Amino acid sequence: DWTMAEFRQAKIAEIRAQVGSGRVICGLSGGVDSAVAAVLIHEAIGEQLTCVFVDHGLMRSGEAEQVVSLFRGHYNIPLVHVDASTLFLSGLAGVTDPEAKRKFIGKTFIDVFEEEARKIGGAGFLAQGTLYPDVIESVSFTGGPSVTIKSHHNVGGLPERMNMALVEPLRELFKDEVRALGRELGLPDVFVGRHPFPGPGLAIRIPGEVTRERCDILRKADAIYLDEIRSAGLYDAIWQAFAVLLPVKTVGVMGDGRTYDSVLGLRAVTSTDGMTAAAFEFPGGFLPRVATRIINEVRGVNRVVYDYTSKPPGTIEWE
Ligand code: XMP
Repeated sequence: DWTMAEFRQAKIAEIRAQVGSGRVICGLSGGVDSAVAAVLIHEAIGEQLTCVFVDHGLMRSGEAEQVVSLFRGHYNIPLVHVDASTLFLSGLAGVTDPEAKRKFIGKTFIDVFEEEARKIGGAGFLAQGTLYPDVIESVSFTGGPSVTIKSHHNVGGLPERMNMALVEPLRELFKDEVRALGRELGLPDVFVGRHPFPGPGLAIRIPGEVTRERCDILRKADAIYLDEIRSAGLYDAIWQAFAVLLPVKTVGVMGDGRTYDSVLGLRAVTSTDGMTAAAFEFPGGFLPRVATRIINEVRGVNRVVYDYTSKPPGTIEWE
């Protein structure tokens, strides 16, 4: 049995032994895992680390700003902010298959990291906040032959050939352990307590084709949903909550006019590790209030539905 303080010291020694005097690029996704990995690695090797935040245009509202201010302001860890939204969104044009989206995004992240590595004169290592569940879910054993449920962008989504060796200090941890380590490292509570957000971002919450316009619609709806969850004091009772923009249009009526717009799905689950999950039961009146706000405030959405599927047989994300 180890405590987080011991784990921290053991990992620091391990990272130093692996990296030596080499340079490391750490990709920040905006989530807790990569932030904890970056702070730990920075503690181990200081200036040998360069953090790169790749904005793929698939972030939630305000996410990019929060990460940049945490790293530059709170930690004073140098951070390169790459706006790669055009690269990602143009590459996603016409792509509708969930695994094709994931593979494209995983590969494009690596392309951007390799380019940033070149700019700093080369880096032998790429650090990621990969967790144990990312590893097992990318190759899932169901008793028979192994079946991939989803290629997590940082595991099964990686290209086969890479120039950099991986540094993954969180690879044997579950989410609650990463949060404990984050607190041990002094990350602010609001950051450590954030809901998980997948590396492929909004792309896997827009079944069908991902466009900048659909990302904007989803971002607005998602922000309203989370805003209402926070005001109701429910944020910490939920493992993860988000909206999904469906490629289905339905007929509605607003004022004296007919509407023909997209359906939005709302998802909220409880879970301890993301491996299994149950739909969250909101108090009465909450979901109708959110639905009304979204339909009134977000152009392009005229119907809202709630997803009651547990995992299994569903998964948390829709793709
Ligand atoms: P699923 O949808 O497989 O998700 O039930 C389980 C948990 O993993 C997150 N998730 C990802 N996280 N890269 C990540 O960093 C990914 O590619 C990825 N896919 C899913 C998901 O948000 C949930 O918390």
